[in-house]
Amino acid sequence: MLLIHWPSPNDEVPMADYLTALKEVKAEGKACHIGISNFTCEQVDEAISILGKGEILTNQIEVHPFLQNRKLVEHCEHQGIQVTAFMPLAVGKVMEDPTLQKIADAHGVTPTQITLAWVNQRNMITIPSSTKARNIQSNIAAFDLVLSDSEMADIAMLDRQERIANPDFAPAWDE
Ligand SMILES: NC(=O)c1ccc[n+]([C@@H]2O[C@H](COP(=O)([O-])OP(=O)(O)OC[C@H]3O[C@@H](n4cnc5c(N)ncnc54)[C@H](OP(=O)(O)O)[C@@H]3O)[C@@H](O)[C@H]2O)c1
Repeated sequence: MLLIHWPSPNDEVPMADYLTALKEVKAEGKACHIGISNFTCEQVDEAISILGKGEILTNQIEVHPFLQNRKLVEHCEHQGIQVTAFMPLAVGKVMEDPTLQKIADAHGVTPTQITLAWVNQRNMITIPSSTKARNIQSNIAAFDLVLSDSEMADIAMLDRQERIANPDFAPAWDE
């Protein structure tokens, strides 16, 4: 997987240039898949108009219970692009949330596991990071969990538009 980390600010490097370059690398067999990251709905559509439908495997974007990014997630799904949720644990903040803790207690697991189960149940790939073997094991085990509709609804209520990865060169985000 070879993906563009951020769209070029103000299209300083034209999108057609760098996405076409990725497509060439893939055609040469040097990458199996190509993807984008931090692209907005409008930029997703522009990328598809450049490369054609079916060429972009994923849009890697920030998604966690406190920034659910629903408009963009639904748009990617509609366009046949798999969403990859980065920072799914809100860099550890999910561990302090009482709603996630309550659901975790009911399942006898941790809030991080509940969060990863929630992302999985929303049909997203996710890439939590950890420096600890026991946390990585626990994160993998989370994919066996099944949350009820009412637990999913409770987590949906935690969205508070709390964006963590927001550098000054970021695009104009979808609300
Ligand atoms: N495309 C982009 O622009 C973009 C931007 C930001 C991040 N990312 C990617 O997203 C990935 C994750 O981001 P992130 O590391 O910033 O945030 P994250 O995955 O939400 O949180 C990582 C933090 O959670 C802790 N953690 C992980 N598993 C845990 C567990 N089971 N129990 C308790 N604590 C746990 C880790 O601590 P320990 O190490 O102590 O386990 C670490 O402090 C990274 O691979 C990063 O490259 C992409």
